[in-house]
Amino acid sequence: MKDNRICRLLGIRYPILAGGMTWVSEAVLAAAVSEAGGLGCIATGNMPGDLLREEIQKYRSLSGKPFAVNLILLNPNLQDCLETVKREQVPVITFGAGNCGPYIQELHDAGAKVVPVVNSVALARRLERAGADAIVAEGMESGGHIGETASMPLIPQMADALEIPVVAAGGIGDGRSMAAAFVLGAEGIQLGTALVVAHESRAHANYKNAIVEATDRSTAVTGRTINKPVRALKNQLTQEFHRLEDAKAPWEEIEGLAIGALRKAVMEGDIVRGSVMMGQIAGLIRRRASVAEILGSIVTEFNTTMEKIGPYRVPPGGFPLP
Ligand SMILES: Cc1cc2nc3c(=O)[nH]c(=O)nc-3n(C[C@H](O)[C@H](O)[C@H](O)COP(=O)(O)O)c2cc1C
Repeated sequence: MKDNRICRLLGIRYPILAGGMTWVSEAVLAAAVSEAGGLGCIATGNMPGDLLREEIQKYRSLSGKPFAVNLILLNPNLQDCLETVKREQVPVITFGAGNCGPYIQELHDAGAKVVPVVNSVALARRLERAGADAIVAEGMESGGHIGETASMPLIPQMADALEIPVVAAGGIGDGRSMAAAFVLGAEGIQLGTALVVAHESRAHANYKNAIVEATDRSTAVTGRTINKPVRALKNQLTQEFHRLEDAKAPWEEIEGLAIGALRKAVMEGDIVRGSVMMGQIAGLIRRRASVAEILGSIVTEFNTTMEKIGPYRVPPGGFPLP
C-alpha cells in the first residue's frame, strides 16, 4: 500500500490523528503529535477566540506542520472561535459530536478541511452530503462524551455508507487495534486516552497514573438518563452521578456535577471528585512515554500485525478435526 487518503488529505506521514481533548489538547501536545508525523490538535472546549488565537500562535512557534483545531458546537464562544480559525487559516477543523453541516462551506471557503467526529451513520451521511472531507467514526468505548454504538460495528457500517475516508476512534491504543480498525474499513485512527499519558501532555501526573493503573473494568458511563453520556474513571464523582440518576434528580442537578469537573482532574489531579475522562482502552495502556514513542510503537506493531494476519486463511471446508 503506497497511498493513504487520510495522509494525502491532511498532509501528514502517519494516518494518526490526535483527538481534541478539552483541557488536555493544547499547543505543546499538538506540536509533539504533528512533529512525530501525526495530526496534532488544539481543543477549544468553551474557550474564547482570543485564547484560541494565543494557542494557535504558540503552536506555530513550535511546529510548521499541519494541525487541527477541535470546535465544540455547544461552546458559547463558537462564533468567535470560527472567526479565529478562519483568520488564522487553520488547515483542519474537527468538530465534537453534533451537526456541524452549517459551518462546512464557510470553512472550506477559508481553505480548511473539515473532519466531523460522528457516532451515527445517518449523521455521517448527512455531513458527507454537506461537504465533509472525512469522518471520524467514534465508538462508545472512547473517553469523554460518547454515542451508543461500539467501534467494532460502527466502523464497517460507516465505511460501507460513505465515499469519503473514515478515521476510527474509540478503543484504539496499540498497533493491533489500529490494524483491526483498518481491517474494518478505516483509513486512519484517532487517539484520545493513549495520548493523555504522553510526556508532552499537560494532564496531571495523578491522571496519567490513573490511566496506567486502569483495568478493563475501570470506566463507567454517567449521564445516560439525561442524554449526555460520558465515559470516565469510576470514582466518587461517577458514584454521585449514578446516585442522583437513580433518584431521578432534576437534570440541572445531575448536569451541575459536571461543571468544572474535567478541569479539576486534568489541572489539579483530583482523581476522586474530578471527571477523569478515559476510554476502555485505558486497561491496555501500561506506561507513560513520549508522543514519538507512542506513535512509533503503534505503527511498528500495526505493520507486524498486518504481516502476521496477511497470510492467515481458513481452509476451504474448515480446519481438519483433531
Ligand atoms: C479527557 C478527554 C477529553 C475529550 N474532549 C473532547 C473534546 O473536547 N472534543 C471532542 O471532539 N472529543 C473529545 N474527546 C474524545 C477524543 O477526542 C477521542 O475521540 C476519544 O478519546 C477517542 O477514544 P479513546 O479515548 O478510546 O482513544 C475527549 C476524550 C478525552 C479522553
